[in-house]
Amino acid sequence: MKEKIGIIGGTGIQNSALLGENAQDITVNTPYGSVHLLQGELGGKEIYFINRHGYDKAHTILPHCVNYQANIFAFSTLGVERIIGTAAVGSLRADFPPGSLGLLGQFMDFTKGRKSSFYQGTLLEQGKFVDMTYPYCQELNRAFLSAGEKLGIPLTKDLVYICTEGPRFETAAEIKAFALLGGEVVGMTSATEAILCRELGICYGSLAMSMNAAAGMAEDGVEDIVCFDMGQLEEKIVALLTAVIAALPTVRQCHCQKWSQGV
Ligand code: HPA
Repeated sequence: MKEKIGIIGGTGIQNSALLGENAQDITVNTPYGSVHLLQGELGGKEIYFINRHGYDKAHTILPHCVNYQANIFAFSTLGVERIIGTAAVGSLRADFPPGSLGLLGQFMDFTKGRKSSFYQGTLLEQGKFVDMTYPYCQELNRAFLSAGEKLGIPLTKDLVYICTEGPRFETAAEIKAFALLGGEVVGMTSATEAILCRELGICYGSLAMSMNAAAGMAEDGVEDIVCFDMGQLEEKIVALLTAVIAALPTVRQCHCQKWSQGV
């Protein structure tokens, strides 16, 4: 059976070259709703792509309205064992300016009112207290770092991600507080996806793309946050994803599945 890899593209990332020439639209029904995916093939592996914010430019699904449960469950139904998500972020680090790429190592979850768990029922459900000490798959992160080195694409590693509820941007005071806590980048999606993946034993890695200096970190006011043109990064991202997907060992050698068993 072919290996199955999921990709969640967000702001600025289209399916582009990652799906090969014979990409197909498919719909997967889940207990959480139906999900529209693109299915293709890359380097002999089956690739499933979800555009996190939807496919209709006129009706973008905002980060707090994404049906995260349905998306991750759909991948699981298809037999996907590894998911790579792209994450547009604001940067709290001067040395991670707009246009930089990095890998998330940790997150702090400040979302509220989202369904961030598949476990909504009885206390006897197995695996409810999953181990999130290391929320991102270390094998995926290592594969990204060696692909980056080979391709000459610098990647900042072990970034600490602050996940906010959105869709508003943060206040300058919030960003100051997040920086004191150790936050390095801020976004609105990655923590929720990482948690749901861990609950289902799916490996998850997050490629962070710095879009702007976080609120209050640059001269401009929040309303003047300059969004980096993600199109400029797309070529590098496609090259990285292609190399990572080719390099991943068929059998997972990470701890994600063990950590999903819970206590
Ligand atoms: N804050 C939250 N999410 C973001 C930002 C930000 O500054 N930039 C891109 N996504």
